[in-house]
Amino acid sequence: MSGSERIGVAVLGASGRMGRAVLREVLEAPDLELVAAVTHAGSAHLHADAGVLAGLPAVGIPVTPIGPVLAEADVVVDFALPSGTLAALPHLGSAALVSGTTGLEPTDRDRVLGHGAVAPVLLAANFSVGVNALLALVEAAARSLPDFDVEVVEAHHRHKVDAPSGTALALARAAADARGVDLERVRQDGRVGRTGPRRDGAIGLHALRGGSVTGHHTVWLAGEGERLELTHEAASREVFARGAVRAARWIAGRPPRCYSMRDVLGL
Ligand SMILES: NC(=O)c1ccc[n+]([C@@H]2O[C@H](COP(=O)([O-])OP(=O)(O)OC[C@H]3O[C@@H](n4cnc5c(N)ncnc54)[C@H](OP(=O)(O)O)[C@@H]3O)[C@@H](O)[C@H]2O)c1
Repeated sequence: MSGSERIGVAVLGASGRMGRAVLREVLEAPDLELVAAVTHAGSAHLHADAGVLAGLPAVGIPVTPIGPVLAEADVVVDFALPSGTLAALPHLGSAALVSGTTGLEPTDRDRVLGHGAVAPVLLAANFSVGVNALLALVEAAARSLPDFDVEVVEAHHRHKVDAPSGTALALARAAADARGVDLERVRQDGRVGRTGPRRDGAIGLHALRGGSVTGHHTVWLAGEGERLELTHEAASREVFARGAVRAARWIAGRPPRCYSMRDVLGL
């Protein structure tokens, strides 16, 4: 940690929607120190002031490209795109990584988690407290209602580039794990045409895109003559940014390992 005892934070993907929200949380927290605001070398936002990007007064910290500056942080908070997260890995040194980037291929996810050999790592598809509680509820419901059909429906703003959302996949995985099945074997992404009857044990995933929806997830558990719906609605990005900053505070100084939001929240 820095000599002032404040936790040094670098924000990766600083110019993005989430990155700006994280910058704001970090700059307004007395116990955190913004060490760097980072994006890719081709970004139109290079050299912009991090404070201004966050909608605050200038702080004299310009946005810089991915590089050794990341290793100067105690914790790197990452909301970039998968290419950005992967490009940053060789530059992290012993900095902890808190990453919210979604859409990583399974092998790339393993590469990111590999940083856990040298520093603490936390990868979360969703940093909201509510969604993390929802994951536990879905697990319990899927286990106690083994004959109910599970369908996960998510909705996001028109700019989102991956589908289904990382959170939808995490919810589907929670249901699959609770039933002792491999999600990749039972998942069914959308339906179109003459699909035939629903496959026994399938877990459906459906993505809606439009407008400015921050994040909506509903898990349907449908049985004979009754249906249970578990829904989470995120009203603003600050929910995720606050959760990521909470995780950054929690992870700073911990031993190298992979952690989850469940550890942070004590769930
Ligand atoms: N875990 C959660 O709770 C949570 C919540 C919301 C979103 N997310 C995820 O967080 C990620 C970012 O979401 P967003 O809405 O903020 O997206 P966004 O507005 O498109 O921002 C993406 C950021 O990544 C930067 N970037 C793009 N390519 C890069 C590269 N190769 N190297 C480094 N940086 C790169 C962009 O830079 P420029 O703009 O400068 O080009 C921008 O700063 C997505 O994966 C999203 O699904 C996670």
